[in-house]
Amino acid sequence: MKICHVVGARPQFVKYLPLNLATKKLNRECAADLVDVLVHTGQHYDYNMSRLFFDELGIKLPDYNLGAGGKLQAVQTAEVLVKCDEVFNKEDPDVVVVYGDTNSTIGAALAAVKLHIPVAHVEAGLRSFNKFMPEEINRIVVDHTSTLLFCPSQSATQQLQNEGFRRVLDNGKLMSLDYKFSDQSMIDKNNPMIVNTGDIMYDVMEHALKMAQSQSSIIADLALGDINFTLLTIHRAENTDHAEALKRVAEYVTDITSGGQVICPMHPRTAKACERHGVQFGSNVRIIDPVSYFDLLMLLESASGVLTDSGGLQKEAFWMKTPCITLREETEWIETIDSGWNVLFGTADCWPNAPEFVPSVYGDGNAAERMLHLLQLLPEHR
Ligand code: UD1
Repeated sequence: MKICHVVGARPQFVKYLPLNLATKKLNRECAADLVDVLVHTGQHYDYNMSRLFFDELGIKLPDYNLGAGGKLQAVQTAEVLVKCDEVFNKEDPDVVVVYGDTNSTIGAALAAVKLHIPVAHVEAGLRSFNKFMPEEINRIVVDHTSTLLFCPSQSATQQLQNEGFRRVLDNGKLMSLDYKFSDQSMIDKNNPMIVNTGDIMYDVMEHALKMAQSQSSIIADLALGDINFTLLTIHRAENTDHAEALKRVAEYVTDITSGGQVICPMHPRTAKACERHGVQFGSNVRIIDPVSYFDLLMLLESASGVLTDSGGLQKEAFWMKTPCITLREETEWIETIDSGWNVLFGTADCWPNAPEFVPSVYGDGNAAERMLHLLQLLPEHR
């Protein structure tokens, strides 16, 4: 069976890792004969936004790089679609796996379904209910073109049922690791299947945290050893594309951190926006270049709180018991709010009161194993 994975943006490289490791394990231990083809769309292209992640996490280098970075949304999406079409025609995979909600995700999914290749969507069923976000449109379209919908939580499976999907495994409960499928459960394109696999980012964290603790030197490098600091990340279009929105974020950061040290690894989009809009953060905000995954985990573990508009960081903060304020009006990761670890800045003028308990709502760290099990149930495409 040939499985083609398409990635392009920073978090997608990380999400691919557990599936690649699980594939190698199956081939080694069960003679599974799975062929794994990795396509990088090139959406992220700077060394520390792309190659650094491959080097640090030991991810295999892509088999293809489509060079679709640094373009306008429509051009980027169209380029991913056209170039993926060429790759899929050449490789003829049995399934295409896409991740999350980026322009790379939608471009690859459209290319695959137009060639009648089934799509498996990792991180299905998430919604912000804000159609001004490019990511929201990408999520909706990709879910509705997918054959396998891998949901990170039970609430995501419920959302897909609300949108008319009918086949949900085990009422959206976390799939049992020894689940036995009958022939009737075989999955086909006109019968998409929703499965709560748990969140693949939890697999990654379990895998990477110990390595990060032994390999990252960022806390010492930035002399943060005994210092109380807040971690800040901003990159969403809704916060960066308009001067007023970016100024509002900068003012909020100043108010909520009251002069305490803030470390901000700055995304290139945000750096460009600050320059364009003439926005400056307070003098307590230390701006650094984008950091590696290990460094990010260590900053998050040591920070007293995190201010972010990233989806991944909200969950990582939750798992690490670091209080989080999300710099958005809404979030897809509602469980982090419900459990009291996260608040939205539109509604919060203070940090959440960190509760002791972190509920296990995003699976058990074995999402990739479940996903591979399901991928192998797909009928051969060729
Ligand atoms: C994209 C995703 C977002 C995801 C994020 C992860 C979409 C619509 N958005 O946002 O959902 O959370 O990735 O980081 O797909 N740039 C560089 N160097 C790079 C990468 C980007 O300079 O290596 C510049 C681009 O040229 C562009 C800007 O940053 O000017 C934005 O990049 P882009 O990939 O379009 O979107 P992100 O903001 O990264």
